[in-house]
Order: sequence, then structure tokens, then C-alpha cells
Amino acid sequence: MRVSCRAPAKVIISGEHSVVYGYPALVAAVNVYSKVIIETVDEFGPHEICSEKYGIGKVIGGAISGPAALKPLAKVVSAFCESESFRGKLKIRVSSDIPPASGMGSSASISVALAYALLKTIYDKPPEEKVFKLAMEGEKIAHANPSGVDVAAALQGGLILFVKDKGFERLEAGSGIFLLADSGMERSTKEMVSKVASLREKEPDLFNITMTSISEITNRIARLLGSDLVEAGRLMTLNHLLLSLLGVSNSRLDSIVWTSISAGAYGAKLTGGGGGGCVLTLVDEKSLNAVEGALRNLNAPTRILRTVEKGVYIEEVD
Ligand code: MEV
Repeated sequence: MRVSCRAPAKVIISGEHSVVYGYPALVAAVNVYSKVIIETVDEFGPHEICSEKYGIGKVIGGAISGPAALKPLAKVVSAFCESESFRGKLKIRVSSDIPPASGMGSSASISVALAYALLKTIYDKPPEEKVFKLAMEGEKIAHANPSGVDVAAALQGGLILFVKDKGFERLEAGSGIFLLADSGMERSTKEMVSKVASLREKEPDLFNITMTSISEITNRIARLLGSDLVEAGRLMTLNHLLLSLLGVSNSRLDSIVWTSISAGAYGAKLTGGGGGGCVLTLVDEKSLNAVEGALRNLNAPTRILRTVEKGVYIEEVD
């Protein structure tokens, strides 16, 4: 059997980091994709993972020989073989247009596409809970303590308000345009999440006030995106300031945020783990060119994002 599967990237509009502690996150699945092709072969031997970016690895039991970057995928494969008693050999090919370590949920998108493709070899319609659980096995290796927001976005698609361990609410995407500006700095979500965890230890009061404020902002933006872009944009910027207080911004991200706003954006904030990666800017048709131009001058390449309603999907099955 041969299965080809695609899953979208995501951007967090509000609620990164606070989502790890049970507060809501507003997240959109967007039009940039990863792709996984698997072939089941009727023989024994190590499973093969061939990644366009990281090279080739072989999975035997729970271990991988090959690039360390393939460990999360090896974990998804071994968890699948164990939970579904799969016998045989898997040949897996992975490619992605999602820039890694940019805050766009590249690892979650690939884990979801892989989990869905693997389960498709067993189930006609892979059950959502099984796909989520399996993809989370990869995310736990990639990010230590993932909330599941990135996996939920790649799986469900659309604009959703997600709460860890509880579920999600689907919302209508508004009329604003989301522009994503790349700082050019790679960073590790794992490091940023542990930085916030140590702030929680050291300064619990500051931590709690910041988290509840972000939570209120997230809920408000979720209601305003369809009706009041000015207010939604201001709240995004306020969210950025609170994320800076948590220690996950830096001068490059701050300058992209303020440059966007000076050029006419409604608001802007870092998106994802922070420490580098991307800035999400809310604009309309009138301010789009000016904001794009200002960010080009800062050497921050931009792309216009479109929310995609469909999450992970099968491209082909033979
Ligand atoms: C990463 O896209 C978002 C974080 O909140 C981590 C997580 O939710 O797992 C920083």
C-alpha cells in the first residue's frame, strides 16, 4: 500500500506559552504544507525514513540510526507499530515547505501527516483521537512539554480556540490580512518553554498576572477578528509586550513589530515559541504594501497567510 498525505502549518494569533498552562490559544491552520509518503513493504527489516531536509534514518524498535532531527518521526513510527501491532516494513518520505524553527509548527505538521498516513494503512477513516495521540508522541520528543495546539491546528484546520486537554472551538476567520515576517533567526521552542517555566518558579506573581492577562486578550481577539480589526490589532501588540515580559522576545522581533505598526499595521506580535522565528502582523488592503515595503527594508521577508479550512488530508492512496 502507498499513502500520500499533507498537513498544514499553523500560526498562533494569541496564547502561545499560556496555552502550556491550560489557558486558551487562538490558532489558524495556514496555506503552507508538509508532505509524507509511506509505502508498506511485505518484508522484515528496519523501517526507512528519508527526509528532504535531514537525510536518511533507519528505525529499529524504538531506536534510530541516522540524523537526530529524525528522532520525533522515529518515535511516531515505533509507537504506531506497537499500538497497532503492525508487521512489515515501512518506507517513509518526508518533505516540507514549512521553514523549521520559525514558529509555524513545522514538526507538528510533519508528525500529523505521518500519523495520519500510518493509520490510513489500518483504518479507512483514521480516528481523530488516534491521530492526535500518535502525533503527540513525536511532539513530546521535539518540544518536551507540548500543549498540543500545533497538532490540533494541523489536524483540524481552520481558525480554532484551543484549550489543552479539553478540546477546541471552531471560529469564523475575519476579513483582516495576516502577514508573516521572518526574522531570519532560528530558535528552539523547547528552550523558550523552559525559560518561561523558570520564570514561573522565580516570580510566580508576575507569571500569574501575565498569564491571566494573555488569556483575557486571547478570548477578546477571538471575538473581535470578525468585527473590529483596530481593537484586535491593539490587543495583539499588547500580547507581544506581555510575551516580552516573559522573556521570549528580543530586539530583532521588537523592531519588526514596531516597524509594522509605524507603517500602518493594526498590530503585530511574535508568533510561536519566540526568541526568533516569525512576527505576525495584522493589516488590511490599504496598509499591506506599505507594511511589506517597510519589512523588506528591515530584511524581514514576508508572506501573506491564508487560513485553510481543511486540516490533514490524503492526497493519494494505491
Ligand atoms: C509553540 O508553537 C507554542 C508554545 O505555546 C508551546 C506549546 O504550546 O506547546 C510556545
